[in-house]
Amino acid sequence: MTSPPTPAYDVLNRVFGYLDFRGQQREIIEHVVDGGDALVLMPTGGGKSLCYQIPALVRPGTGVVISPLIALMQDQVDALRTLGVRAGFLNSAQDYDERRLVEAEFVNGELDLLYVAPEGLGVAATQRLLDRGKISLFAIDEAHCVSQWGHDFRPDYLGLSMLHERWPDVPRIALTATATSATREEIATRLRLDDARHFTASFDRPNIQYRIVPKNEPRKQLLDLLRTEHPGDSGIIYCLSRASVEKVAEFLNQNGITALPYHAGLDNRVRAANQSRFLREDGLVMVATIAFGMGIDKPDVRFVAHLDLPKSVEGYYQETGRAGRDGQPSTAWLAYGLQDVVQQRKMIESSDGDVNFRRNASKHLDAMLALCETVSCRRSELLAYFGQDQSGDNCGNCDTCLAPPESWDATVAAQKLLSTVLRLQRERGQKFGAGQSIDILVGKQTDKIKQFRHDQLSVFGIGTELRETEWRGVVRKLLAAGHLAVEGEYGTLVLTESSAEVLRGQAKVAMRREVAPVKTRAPKQRSAAAAAPTADLSPAATSVFERLRAWRGATAKEQGMPAYVIFHDATLRAIAALNPTTLSELGTVSGVGQSKLAKFGQQVLDTLHGDGAAADAAPPPSPAARIASRFGDDPPPSPSPSPAAAPAATAASRTATTHPTAASRAAATQRTVAPAVGSSSARPAPAGAGSRFGGAPPAHADEAYPFDFSEEPPDDFDYDFDPPPPDDN
Ligand SMILES: Nc1ncnc2c1ncn2[C@@H]1O[C@H](COP(=O)(O)OP(=O)(O)OP(=O)(O)O)[C@@H](O)[C@H]1O
Ligand SMILES: [Mg+2]
Ligand SMILES: [Zn+2]
Repeated sequence: MTSPPTPAYDVLNRVFGYLDFRGQQREIIEHVVDGGDALVLMPTGGGKSLCYQIPALVRPGTGVVISPLIALMQDQVDALRTLGVRAGFLNSAQDYDERRLVEAEFVNGELDLLYVAPEGLGVAATQRLLDRGKISLFAIDEAHCVSQWGHDFRPDYLGLSMLHERWPDVPRIALTATATSATREEIATRLRLDDARHFTASFDRPNIQYRIVPKNEPRKQLLDLLRTEHPGDSGIIYCLSRASVEKVAEFLNQNGITALPYHAGLDNRVRAANQSRFLREDGLVMVATIAFGMGIDKPDVRFVAHLDLPKSVEGYYQETGRAGRDGQPSTAWLAYGLQDVVQQRKMIESSDGDVNFRRNASKHLDAMLALCETVSCRRSELLAYFGQDQSGDNCGNCDTCLAPPESWDATVAAQKLLSTVLRLQRERGQKFGAGQSIDILVGKQTDKIKQFRHDQLSVFGIGTELRETEWRGVVRKLLAAGHLAVEGEYGTLVLTESSAEVLRGQAKVAMRREVAPVKTRAPKQRSAAAAAPTADLSPAATSVFERLRAWRGATAKEQGMPAYVIFHDATLRAIAALNPTTLSELGTVSGVGQSKLAKFGQQVLDTLHGDGAAADAAPPPSPAARIASRFGDDPPPSPSPSPAAAPAATAASRTATTHPTAASRAAATQRTVAPAVGSSSARPAPAGAGSRFGGAPPAHADEAYPFDFSEEPPDDFDYDFDPPPPDDN
């Protein structure tokens, strides 16, 4: 018998139904329970919420949570109430009566957790209200919102430094998934977290498979990905502009995939409705700008796809991190092409920001481009960017590890391209986009070539050894490396200071050979990732799992809650594998806390063993698979804690729990790595074939400044645009 569980462990176990702390949760929670301040950096889906929820339940008083996610507060509070936690929220979207009720509950000490919008805290009336109750802690969630350079800056967060002055004795815990040390320092300074202990978790998300593919026909590539690897899965697709969000959503719907748009230009109600559907229904695809996603805690997002290049690695990592919060295999897929580089460079050049802003933005873009162009492990690059040195590691779950790319010496090709740009400028006084330069190199007799007599240039036709797609790759690489730049509205190519080094042979240019896309699964089959939710179950248990899911869907609908608020897939899977016959046995499954056991336990048993269930029920696990209760012969869980029971009061009372069965443990830790890579032809598909997916070239394209990439031209400049994150060093 080990030492008795701490109050924090008891809450973890009894209220949340979890068997162990994850990572640094235990240390963080103990530190805050003891009254210390903390700054917590953990990746998306890392488990930050428990770091303030458990101390709020253990310490006397109400934990006040500051969160910018007004649209999600209702769901968060519902989820906590389902767990038997007394939670409420105050925000501007609430009506007067509701507000009064919550205020009264707070003052009377009847709340464990109170969610407040940051703008609310600036109001004197709210501050007076808080003075009338007992506060156990302040949790500042999404703390990177205080960063003025960041993606998600909220001016009201700046006012939060007053918490420290007004309530000096209340511990504060700030949490974020934004990882760089610059952001961390900025948060600590602005929130006056001078004495806070910093906790930085590993940012690795091993269940996410990172893939970056050359962009040829993006929508077709996307459709392929969804059809072959993620049929029926929930996922998020990020686009840069609002117009492309609309178009891609429409395109998917036309192709039989239910997709919803989300961007800042949509009416508030439409946005809220789409978000709510995405959270509640299974298998929906959200097509969105970066305006979507913060705080989305849907655990079973199976893929995050980017159709445009993100502006920074921070942004990319946060967006991709929304996949696979349940720890199950998931895909992060990005299609990236020359046009992305041109477009982003142009956007930076033409932005209203000052020199600093542009330098910053360029640095962030450069880091993102380096990630795209790398020939080594994407995950190591990502983690190294966040200061976690993984150099030389091979993660086995990214495209470069699964299909190591060859690199080739592109110095001569680069010289040819740069001299074309140089000659156009010197001999003709002209500037053109990439398309014309490539046509010159491959010796194509187009009207425009004839019109400008470019076939008389000495470089005409000197580049037939490469295909057009490969030439575009060379341009992309040169832009990424800064040996070439784009200028003006049409993205014409111009030389840079370092072009000369390449032309003189003083700088080498190594390129990734673009192989056919990593095909990790056979077409028309569910992927390892997609199939994972049932992968470890026997056929009989799989059918039980499906029945449980159907029950959960119906129950969620009835209660107007997202299905995962009832039980996660992982929990249902563990239940299907265990096939418990009693409530106390059911209570041993990870994710089944006391309150959920009381609310849903009997229904689950009925679903397992009721009418019609017997025929295909899984056989009970062998005795060996059932591991004795962790604390010896504890009594079964107390049957029916009311949602209003104060967990704080009972925190120390030990309940019967629990140890995962071998099966549920295996399910919880199971991680499927995609099988080996399929055949890959060394050359990409020929360019131009049906590229421009439904888009016409911009009408204003001046003849002398052609905008002639075969990728889709940008729709407009209607972006949900944010300033780049701050400088990192
Ligand atoms: N100790 C644990 N055992 C099992 N599951 C856990 C544990 N801690 C957290 N989880 C689960 O992990 C998931 C992610 O947790 P959480 O919502 O707290 O993430 P987060 O760090 O706040 O992410 P984000 O940055 O997206 O807000 C949740 O579904 C949660 O229930
Ligand atoms: Mg969170
Ligand atoms: Zn890797």
